Amino acid sequence: MNSFQTLMQQDIKNLSPEPKVMGFSGSPRKGGNSDILLSHILNGVSENRLPADSLRLADCEFQPCIGCERCRKDKICTAHVDGMSFLYPKIITSMGLVLVCPTHNYNITAWMKAFIDRLYCFYNFEKNRPSAWSSRLADQGRKAVIAAVCEQENKEDMGFTIDAMRLPLEALGYEIIGELDVLGTFAKAKVKEQTSTLIRAAELGSDLAKSIGE
Ligand SMILES: Cc1cc2nc3c(=O)[nH]c(=O)nc-3n(C[C@H](O)[C@H](O)[C@H](O)COP(=O)(O)O)c2cc1C
Repeated sequence: MNSFQTLMQQDIKNLSPEPKVMGFSGSPRKGGNSDILLSHILNGVSENRLPADSLRLADCEFQPCIGCERCRKDKICTAHVDGMSFLYPKIITSMGLVLVCPTHNYNITAWMKAFIDRLYCFYNFEKNRPSAWSSRLADQGRKAVIAAVCEQENKEDMGFTIDAMRLPLEALGYEIIGELDVLGTFAKAKVKEQTSTLIRAAELGSDLAKSIGE
């Protein structure tokens, strides 16, 4: 049994996550706006002396959920052995989570969607239909910050990007400490020119760190 399987088969419900933050960028554009926003949010975390780490989902090879529902029984994803085996322990052990994603067609990117769907294995389902459910990550003081970036100036053109991250994270038991929507930003790394946005990103990271330290 590898370390991932050992961790997942423990009673996650009774684990205490560590005071640290894990951030994920859902952009396929390396060094783009999402990556930059994420690094500024995590700088805000680090300034509060909390460990912070990050990964680009497009650099992690993993498959989308195939809906086999085996995780309802197995409590881990037994359909795929892939890059998520490396990411699950980082999520489980981190009290804080940061998700940053560009808008692709009014929604999160395919990478972010696949990542969030693969968190389905953290739910416990009852046998009734429709099944009552609970999350094994809930009631552990987990906190999150989410951010999105898009080209258009109108909030409507960001579509469901923020909701598509907030709703699943809340369902999993995260308290959302703050959200940032960055509009009117198209070119790669353009957000670097937006000082007030970068300051706000760092503030959100700082808020997250403080909420974890409380
Ligand atoms: C496939 C695709 C779809 C997009 N769809 C939208 C959209 O629906 N609304 C919008 O305002 N911008 C859209 N954009 C623009 C990106 O959100 C924007 O360029 C963003 O800054 C990219 O962030 P990144 O550098 O982190 O990848 C789209 C870009 C791509 C490549």
